[in-house]
Amino acid sequence: MDKHQTIVVLDFGGQYNQLIARRVRDLGVYTELLPYSTSVEKMKEINPIGIILTGGPNSVFTKDALVCDKEIFNLGIPMLGICYGAQLLAFQTGGDVASATTKEYGKCEIEYSDCPLFEGINKTNICWMSHTDYVSKLGKGFEIVGKTATCPIAAYGNTERKLYGVQFHPEVVHTQNGTEILKNFLYRVCGAKGDWTMKGFVKNQINALKAKIGNKKVLCAMSGGVDSAVAATLLYRAVGENLTCVFVDHGLLRKYEAEQVMKVFRDEQGMNVIKIDAEKRFLSRLEGVTEPEKKRKIIGEEFIRVFEEFGKTIGKVDYLVQGTIYPDVVESGFGKAALIKSHHNVGGLPSVIDFKEIIEPLRDLFKDEVRKVGTELGLDEEIVMRQPFPGPGLAIRIIGNVTKEKLDLLRDADYIMREEIAKNGLNREIWQYFAALTNMQSVGVMGDMRTYDYAVALRAVTSVDAMTADFARIPYDVLSRISNRIVNEVKGVNRVLYDITSKPPATIEME
Ligand code: XMP
Repeated sequence: MDKHQTIVVLDFGGQYNQLIARRVRDLGVYTELLPYSTSVEKMKEINPIGIILTGGPNSVFTKDALVCDKEIFNLGIPMLGICYGAQLLAFQTGGDVASATTKEYGKCEIEYSDCPLFEGINKTNICWMSHTDYVSKLGKGFEIVGKTATCPIAAYGNTERKLYGVQFHPEVVHTQNGTEILKNFLYRVCGAKGDWTMKGFVKNQINALKAKIGNKKVLCAMSGGVDSAVAATLLYRAVGENLTCVFVDHGLLRKYEAEQVMKVFRDEQGMNVIKIDAEKRFLSRLEGVTEPEKKRKIIGEEFIRVFEEFGKTIGKVDYLVQGTIYPDVVESGFGKAALIKSHHNVGGLPSVIDFKEIIEPLRDLFKDEVRKVGTELGLDEEIVMRQPFPGPGLAIRIIGNVTKEKLDLLRDADYIMREEIAKNGLNREIWQYFAALTNMQSVGVMGDMRTYDYAVALRAVTSVDAMTADFARIPYDVLSRISNRIVNEVKGVNRVLYDITSKPPATIEME
């Protein structure tokens, strides 16, 4: 693969760290988000054109302060410290940090001086602050280049050494011209060329995959989701017929979903996709099971069994494709995540298929980059802009036991909701939207008849990463239309509810 320029984002535990990395990528420069403890040797090996030190919850003068390898400051690589990163950089270069009595939080007015970071932007501007400690003194060779009413050193720099610090957050949208500031750092300070594009990525990956795989056999499990769809398409472009995709229809998919996967990937793209119809076995194992975690476990186990049986028919394969993406790599490497639900997708494959090596062609990409790669590869918007869909499918959108009748009813209600959301142009702004089947039946009246039918719950949330979410403010007339259509068109439903809880305390899915 052609070597591209890299910016290292050193993670000190702040909440916007992935956002910084994504912003830099959007500006055409490849980033790697690495733990603050990364060694100077590793840094030399990567040889980045610049380093960004992120924010973080710590104080530079506490005993357990997070400090990176001090040698990194002597490499002569341009640096931008943000918030905690700015304090650390000042502290390590002969300056000092003090603790304020109150936290400064929110938008505030800032005055910038002439400096490469602020070229081309208004010198009186608005930035987003969130800090208690502040830089109180600068080391030799540094000068103040930004100040606010309460923060006398809101930005500083050493033009000769190409070291800069900003107390505010240029990566959040509330900082006006924040993107330009990052861009100035990349292009004016670090000399970036802008060599990170998805077009280039696709070309490089296809060549690299071709060279690596040659004529060997590759297996890919498709879930219908964006990541596995894009990974499979990329592989197909590289090795063609030598790729086999397996797609398990567990009977818990949305309306027309299995048909769409087969139409797009097998019929239109010409890929070798094997569909395994496993509805009966999944439903029989789920019969009478009401406990959410038990349902998830059963589905996970059954997936493995299906793959195990399939593995016996296909024999040894050389390579197995996984749709791992960069946030998975970062999150598992950094050891976060508490178990609220046992999430799973098609990750059980490696344990039961006889293979030589795993290939993860998307492991360097953020989700929005995966979507762009999908578009580069010619996949339809309908596929690349898909909302997330959980591995256990509709089983966790039906509260209580799962039956074919309930699934069919839910599929119809969900289809109506999705159709109306798209028709009203809301599908882009809402992160996830779906119908769920509550386990509640209640009295209604249809015509002159009493009914005792199910209540469908509509769930629609806005989010950036699914870690937190808020319910979407869908216009009443759209909700009204969805509700009318569902009670009129879906037999067995006489009530429609709209879930107006955020996450936390609720979760996005019902189970
Ligand atoms: P929750 O319900 O935990 O969901 O707020 C957060 C996000 O994760 C998706 N989700 C899953 N994805 N396998 C998956 O691949 C799973 O088992 C699973 N459970 C939840 C959910 O749709 C939302 O986007």
